[in-house]
Amino acid sequence: MSQFDTLFDRKAGNARKWAESVLAKKFGLTPNAIPMDLADLDFPVAPPIHDAVMARAAVSDYSYTYIPDAFNETVIAWNARRFGLELEADWLKLSYGTVPTLHYIVQAFTAVGESVLINTPAYDPFAEAVEHNQRQLITSPLKLENDRYVFDFEDMADKMARPDVKVFILCSPQNPSGRVWTAEELEQVGDLCLQHHVLLVSDEIHRDIVYPGVHFTSIWQACPAIRDHSILCLSPNKAFNLGGLKTSYVVIPDAGIRDRLAQQFAANSITSPNSFAIPALIAAYTKCDAWLDEMVAYVADNFAYLRDRLAEIPEMQVMPAESGFLAWIDVRRLFADEAELKRFFTACDLSCVVGSYFVADGEGFVRLNIGMPRPLLKEALDRIFAIYATWHQKEAPQFTIQVQHPDD
Ligand SMILES: Cc1ncc(COP(=O)(O)O)c(C=O)c1O
Repeated sequence: MSQFDTLFDRKAGNARKWAESVLAKKFGLTPNAIPMDLADLDFPVAPPIHDAVMARAAVSDYSYTYIPDAFNETVIAWNARRFGLELEADWLKLSYGTVPTLHYIVQAFTAVGESVLINTPAYDPFAEAVEHNQRQLITSPLKLENDRYVFDFEDMADKMARPDVKVFILCSPQNPSGRVWTAEELEQVGDLCLQHHVLLVSDEIHRDIVYPGVHFTSIWQACPAIRDHSILCLSPNKAFNLGGLKTSYVVIPDAGIRDRLAQQFAANSITSPNSFAIPALIAAYTKCDAWLDEMVAYVADNFAYLRDRLAEIPEMQVMPAESGFLAWIDVRRLFADEAELKRFFTACDLSCVVGSYFVADGEGFVRLNIGMPRPLLKEALDRIFAIYATWHQKEAPQFTIQVQHPDD
């Protein structure tokens, strides 16, 4: 039995994903719902993180903090050890969540009315970072080839050639599909940005959860020349489930880009980190390698389990994934539209993220979070099978024999 098999009460920690009021209001679900929407893990944090936070809590001082040198040292060591990335301390800037950071990046490197390019389907806050700041969102759809997403380089080149496109936000690995881009693909992305003088922002926060046997390549390794024209967004939030601590960081080798973003941080009054952020990050990056490897292997097995079981429902095509704890499932053949998809998952008492959330090109798909104990995943799948068994019958008109039997 794995440590990750154990059910863990997330309602006690006010987990947003498990909030009964949200599940009822947003999805029409009961208190017995299994949430599979929001992208966090249903596992307790790694014990060293718990211990570090408890030790910090025992110090009765929760006032303003500063960033100790140990932060830089830890981040540099982690990136070198796990990813072969050689970073310098000056390049690092702590930030308070990747999503707010994307907002500041958009504010800093584009003017109102200018444009930002993203690929779709996309994690919706990418679009929000653009549109909430009155910039224009330009999308380049990913193409489906052999059941996996690939870039449409021609389309991306056309769009980057537009004078108003100043920034490209790359999602690597990709959310929602879990696709890990190859070095060749990333090199082309980097070259395009260089050619068209577009600032490349690479959100690599899912890179820590790459399945055993899959190799993750950072954009800088694939295209070294892009380093001085790019920003890397990183964070322990996904892999170590620290979203509530609002801890992330950016890596920016170019001093000009770094100073410009620092000004934007100052303009938004981004100051000292919360008291628990640095101790948690340091514990995660120094004492949790074995925990992380075990967790990733467990989630990869969850993914294989889900694929095996859903293979029995031909109208639910799970896209192969190489990373992450999110399954992206093509249900175009099962449901007439998204309204029906929602009704199905409500009947299952499961929450999910419907394809239209992903800015564009996601319709007909559903994203399910499988970062949970396998017994819970089994129960969720059992519910899907139970509802599926009767779904189309339920939807079909009910026929009764109208003709009277002559003997009656
Ligand atoms: C691609 C991507 N970027 C950023 C985030 C959120 O990051 P943070 O918690 O650091 O704001 C997510 C969360 O799902 C994500 O999928």
